[in-house]
Amino acid sequence: MNPQLLFWIPAALRLSLILLLAGITWWFLGLTLGLGIAVLGLLILIVVQLGYLYQLSNWLDHPDSMKLPDGWGAWTDIFSRLYRLRRDDEKNRAELSEWLTRFRQAMSLLPDGVAIMDDVLFLEWCNPAAERHLGLNLERDRGMRVTNLIRNPNFIDYIILGRYDQPLTLSLRERKLIVHIIPFESRRQILVTHDATEVERIEMMRRDFIANASHELRTPLTVINGFLEIAAGQPALDPETRMTHLKLMTEQGKRMQNLVEDMLALTRLESMDYPVRPEPVGITALLNQIVSEAQALSAGRHSITLSIDGPDIMGSPDELRSAFSNLVSNAVRYTPEHGTIELAWQDTAEGPQFVVRDDGIGIRPEHILRLTERFYRVDKSRSRETQGTGLGLAIVKHVLLRHNAVLAIDSEPGRGSVFTVKFPRGALHEVLAAPA
Ligand SMILES: Nc1ncnc2c1ncn2[C@@H]1O[C@H](COP(=O)(O)OP(=O)(O)O)[C@@H](O)[C@H]1O
Ligand SMILES: [Mg+2]
Repeated sequence: MNPQLLFWIPAALRLSLILLLAGITWWFLGLTLGLGIAVLGLLILIVVQLGYLYQLSNWLDHPDSMKLPDGWGAWTDIFSRLYRLRRDDEKNRAELSEWLTRFRQAMSLLPDGVAIMDDVLFLEWCNPAAERHLGLNLERDRGMRVTNLIRNPNFIDYIILGRYDQPLTLSLRERKLIVHIIPFESRRQILVTHDATEVERIEMMRRDFIANASHELRTPLTVINGFLEIAAGQPALDPETRMTHLKLMTEQGKRMQNLVEDMLALTRLESMDYPVRPEPVGITALLNQIVSEAQALSAGRHSITLSIDGPDIMGSPDELRSAFSNLVSNAVRYTPEHGTIELAWQDTAEGPQFVVRDDGIGIRPEHILRLTERFYRVDKSRSRETQGTGLGLAIVKHVLLRHNAVLAIDSEPGRGSVFTVKFPRGALHEVLAAPA
């Protein structure tokens, strides 16, 4: 029913009742008593209304939907409407605070930093990623001016110039950050930060790789082109010189081929959509083949021994052959004449391992951590002399990564090196039970 009617009808009824009572009294008992009844009735009505008003005023001090007073007459309706308003309000508040909690949670999981500043750049709020990226602490720094908190000249210029249509790349706290300010609500601004350190590192690696590869290819190409020019300019070259030139050109051609093959192998290994298809690896046959290749490379200048005392494993035979033969050919190439090279396939408590031990030139400790970087060589000229590409150990690292294996390098200059490939015990490398 119409709330207006709900209010007025009971009020009119109550007033009419009092007037009726007063009228009847007047009729039967005289005017004085009639007026008395009317005044009394009105007084009672006023006292009751004042009582309710008092209750309402008390309730408004501590509004709680559960503790609303019951009403009488029009008050019933007023109280029940207040109750509904209050209940809706409480529900909205609960929803809002739940939403806010969810929003905070989502913001704290965000890898990108978000900070909110007011129109004069005072920090109002930020998420944990922004704290990490910008070195902020919300509790400590809230209400401080952002330009006082992030004291980087490029950042301050960016803010002063206010060209917010473009993001800013910033080096901050040894990280590369992409910072973007987005004005909103006409008086506030959001500061978004993205950590681009890793992307930048990969980009730099790619640039380095291309620069290194071009550099490596240029040298043999220069040599070959030089001899070709000579051949073109002096057609009547004596056969002996011609043979020497051809031999040198073949060597350089072979070097370029090695390099390109190693680069292709690395690229193949790095492509993630090409996982290892585990197959049984016949360790004995594989290592025997590697030993005969090493003997050919050594040409009798080293003593090479092999001991096999471990189980076969699962993995990619081709990749493992390439990794193992890289380690063995390094041992041959970096060990002077009459040196000893010991190869061993062993079983340990942690899993099988392949050990390559030489008593060659060894490696100084500061180089050891960097050996598996592409094109990293301790001595460039020696590596080139021995047909090295500088990619061997990078290939080894990738093959091992794909087999969950690790490479341990132990070396001492002048005494020799031990390269150990450690395989884990696990599904991929499950030791094959010897067939009955
Ligand atoms: N057994 C070893 N003894 C001494 N130095 C080694 C040995 N194996 C690798 N190195 C060093 O590590 C560098 C990187 O090895 P690698 O990636 O295989 O490239 P390279 O093509 O030069 O052999 C080599 O240039 C060499 O300086
Ligand atoms: Mg090598």
